[in-house]
Amino acid sequence: MAPADTEKDHWSAETYSASASFVPELTQTVLRYLSPCPTDRILDIGCGDGKFTAKFLPAADYVLGLDSSKNLVDAAIRDYSSLANAEFRVVDCRFLEQETAVVDGSWDKVISNAALHWILRDPSTRQSTINAIHACLKPGGSFVFEMGGHGNVPEVHAALIYALVRRGVPVHKAREAGPWFFASETWMRNALQKAGFKVEKLEVEYRPTKLTTDASGGLAGWVRLMGAQFLELLDPVQREDSVREICEVLRSVVTREEDGSQWLGYVRLRGIATRVN
Ligand code: BEZ
Repeated sequence: MAPADTEKDHWSAETYSASASFVPELTQTVLRYLSPCPTDRILDIGCGDGKFTAKFLPAADYVLGLDSSKNLVDAAIRDYSSLANAEFRVVDCRFLEQETAVVDGSWDKVISNAALHWILRDPSTRQSTINAIHACLKPGGSFVFEMGGHGNVPEVHAALIYALVRRGVPVHKAREAGPWFFASETWMRNALQKAGFKVEKLEVEYRPTKLTTDASGGLAGWVRLMGAQFLELLDPVQREDSVREICEVLRSVVTREEDGSQWLGYVRLRGIATRVN
């Protein structure tokens, strides 16, 4: 999930779990689309700490999980690599085409959950990553994915940009610091077809998502973890001021009256695409 090894690794399995434990949990639909079978060799792009991978691992022949965060891959190795059919490697999937041992047309399925919006952030490597996923698959193999779609988490996205602008960061710089690309259905369909995929299914779902109630999670934990690349433009004192301000500004937007629970406006873009030849 995190960018290249020259860049800072923002991730830790513990903070991810405190602020985003719902990510591997809300995956019934994408797992149904994956429909793993006992002969499947499956490549998991952006596997993170392996908690999502572990949900389909028992139903597959072999799974290789790739993620650019060493911290998360280490957690996946610690928790799951004792299972004979699982391996995890640190790979920055923006440059997947360079992994010639993986991009070999041998995989039955490629899966990606909640990772492509990070991996596709850089416009210069977007299409090459999707081309490489296509080249990983056997003819007839399928690519199943779920990611943030256009308009994902709009309230906190706007609040993060504005928190920087209020502290003197030019708006174009604040936008450029954004670590996410929330693809529209049209963009994704075009990119998949350009890579040679047949698009079998592509759907958008508005899925408001309840934040965790962990002491170190909730909205503040989410903002610190997921918005780390935005906040890095500020000094440490300004960062914490911004987190407080964002939570205060968003309080009435995200809080449900009946029980005080806090929700973000997640939008999922989900699909199945097959390699035809
Ligand atoms: C998502 O899974 O949609 C997401 C996660 C972190 C930041 C933004 C979006």
